[in-house]
Amino acid sequence: MYTEELVPVMYTRNHQYDTSFVKENLMGPNALRMIDELAKSLKLEKGMRVLDLGCGKGLTSIYLAKEFGVTVFATDLWISASENYERFKAMGVEDKVIPIHAEAHDLPFAQEYFDVAVSIDAYHYFGVEPDYLEKYFAPLVKKGGQIIVAVPGLKEEFSAGVPAGLASYWCDDMENTLHSHEWWLELWKPCEAVEIRESAEMKCFREAWQDWLTCGHEIARKDVGMMADGGWEHFNLVSMVAIKR
Ligand SMILES: C[S@@+](CC[C@H](N)C(=O)[O-])C[C@H]1O[C@@H](n2cnc3c(N)ncnc32)[C@H](O)[C@@H]1O
Repeated sequence: MYTEELVPVMYTRNHQYDTSFVKENLMGPNALRMIDELAKSLKLEKGMRVLDLGCGKGLTSIYLAKEFGVTVFATDLWISASENYERFKAMGVEDKVIPIHAEAHDLPFAQEYFDVAVSIDAYHYFGVEPDYLEKYFAPLVKKGGQIIVAVPGLKEEFSAGVPAGLASYWCDDMENTLHSHEWWLELWKPCEAVEIRESAEMKCFREAWQDWLTCGHEIARKDVGMMADGGWEHFNLVSMVAIKR
């Protein structure tokens, strides 16, 4: 399934994104493809306040500000606010995207502050905790506000053990964070703060991964073998959509 050919990175709304800029700032499967697919399920209006939790280098924050005119609080742990601020200035969105350095359990926001909360390829690092949604994420969203999460996942839980091809890559981090969309649905169901609208496998899985594998990043080069040895067969991207009650 993997080919050396780079899938063109093209987004069809109002703006084009420079392929080399996207490649430089990828931190995993192409987050722009994910947010572009999910935006179809989102109602975004100019002036809305959006939390982008675990935004990394801010690709999705830039996209949301440029495409929809929303104000984005681009929040991340590994990437500093100053580094992201430079990128947001370079992209001309510094008035719309506010860079914030914070940990997901200690977020500096008022309760019910956001119209929308998104988290793309990051929520699995903290959101696998059973009470994370109820205690930390959902409280930040207004009643009727939208919550959208996309994470790397599995087509099915490995109930009979990790497939042989993937065994040499498998680690505690993967064991804890990679799950099927049915697993995520069960995790979210008890949360009384939200009404779940969707739990799905994302259509952009192959293209988003292929963009990552061919972007030239050192970690991406290591992931090439893992995908060939079973990743394409067993992995997917999971999306969850909910409304705050
Ligand atoms: C794989 S990167 C993806 C970044 C970005 N969303 C993207 O798709 O390009 C995962 C991000 O999750 C963030 N993250 C992980 N654990 C976190 C935590 N406990 N609090 C806040 N952010 C966290 C990291 O800082 C990192 O930038």
